[in-house]
Amino acid sequence: MADKRIFAKPEELARAVADHAVRELGTAVDRAGEATWVLAGGSTPAAAYRLLAQGAPSLDWSRLNVLVGDERCVPVGDADSNWGQAAAALLDHVPVDPDRLLVPDGTLPPDEAAARYEARLALLPKDGTGLPRLDHVWLGVGEDGHTLSLFPGLEAVEVTDRLTVGVHDSPKPPPERLTLTLNALEGAKDCLIIAAGAGKAEVIAGALQGDDKLPVARAARAVEEAGGRVTWLLDEAAAGGLG
Ligand code: 6PG
Repeated sequence: MADKRIFAKPEELARAVADHAVRELGTAVDRAGEATWVLAGGSTPAAAYRLLAQGAPSLDWSRLNVLVGDERCVPVGDADSNWGQAAAALLDHVPVDPDRLLVPDGTLPPDEAAARYEARLALLPKDGTGLPRLDHVWLGVGEDGHTLSLFPGLEAVEVTDRLTVGVHDSPKPPPERLTLTLNALEGAKDCLIIAAGAGKAEVIAGALQGDDKLPVARAARAVEEAGGRVTWLLDEAAAGGLG
């Protein structure tokens, strides 16, 4: 049974996301001396990023390895950059260790950007299966059920032999991206799937019913089947199809 929490107000959702992250990352740092955090792109996480930027005194930011689950092939300074948005909302305001930031190179074409990113991921601490241990992962959800830059029907969803892959034809602009694969998500230990707005209600309901045509459903299953925990954090509108 999927673990899901539903919130009436956007600020309550953002607070729950931020508090969960601080708990999970803090526990991972206490256990291993470091923790790897995968940020989500899109607009939904922004309020939680901003809350975290206000301070998380219990968290040793300098011990966090930070990466982003997917990135558009644009320069970090571009308004479309997921990393750029997360840096402006959070990373530029907390004492992270620059050497532990896996900044994607969005100036490269998708396949080369993905290959370079994969080489960075390969240097992260690994779990018992040899995959990078992703202690805490944030995933957003599109209205078509995509997550990361894994869109319904695109071949990137089916890639199983790599941690990252280039996307050339994203239906959500911009078209060129790099993304983690479902294979990479098998290294996730704790994953938040975060969604807000009535436009997501149908795919959230479908995903929670296990509709594998939806990449977000495949992502949740990849995490759980590998032994990771998935928590769906939703506002009431996004949960509107759950009955
Ligand atoms: C991207 C994101 C994407 C996003 C969803 C939800 O690069 O576009 O990674 O997967 O998380 O599209 O976006 P919103 O949060 O803006 O609805």
